[in-house]
Amino acid sequence: MIKLGVNVDHVATLRQARMTNEPDPVLAAGLADLGGADIVTVHLREDVRHIQVRDVDLLRKMVFSKLNLEMATSQEIICTALKIKPEQVTLVPEKRQEITTEGGLSVTTQRGSLVEVVKKFNDEGIQVSLFIDPDKDQIAASKEVGAQSVELHTGKYANAWGEKQCNELLEELVEGVRVARSLGLGVNAGHGLTYKNTGTVVERLDIEEIHIGHSIISRSLFVGLKEAVWEMKELIHKHYLIKQLSEH
Ligand code: PXP
Repeated sequence: MIKLGVNVDHVATLRQARMTNEPDPVLAAGLADLGGADIVTVHLREDVRHIQVRDVDLLRKMVFSKLNLEMATSQEIICTALKIKPEQVTLVPEKRQEITTEGGLSVTTQRGSLVEVVKKFNDEGIQVSLFIDPDKDQIAASKEVGAQSVELHTGKYANAWGEKQCNELLEELVEGVRVARSLGLGVNAGHGLTYKNTGTVVERLDIEEIHIGHSIISRSLFVGLKEAVWEMKELIHKHYLIKQLSEH
């Protein structure tokens, strides 16, 4: 079964809008857990614009499933992550002006430094996933630097217009999964996924984890977070069964 990672950054964004103490992303993680989240994800940005070190500290104490820390590779954040010891770090590129993570990490252009970063985490028993575009060279480089898995960026597919473009971008992801698997990498997927497009991703991509933030937190405003997570879990489950049935 595909595991659902719920990203609660947006809860922290709302809190930081008023620089106050509510809503608390730690409480949100607890509700996501009750709704069936398999993984709790937060992105500790260098500019700490939403998630704070305090949040990650507390999450480490209360998440018993899997804590996935998204992060860039700055020294300060690496030190914090090594102290907190999440089960997994997902390395992402970070730009100050971006609204959300825009493109995948360029592994090909920073192999040397990534080998060292991956080793540092692995030595502490922390798994490393690299958030990349479904590009053959980036996937091969991810294997070379020693990552355990890749998270394929589904953003372009999610934002595509028209059936033709959607299909092309979906096929790129299918091929990316195939290449990554053939190299023995674990494969995750995420970004821009919603209650509408997640079913197709589940049916077509042979992945282990699916990471979703915006759509679940948006729905939670109207139905509550536990319910919103549960609805996504059911959707994933249903499409996973359809995939299994179609393969037999
Ligand atoms: N995966 C990664 C690596 C991300 O950076 C994000 C956004 O924080 C997500 C998944 C979730 O994306 P979305 O909020 O669009 O569901």
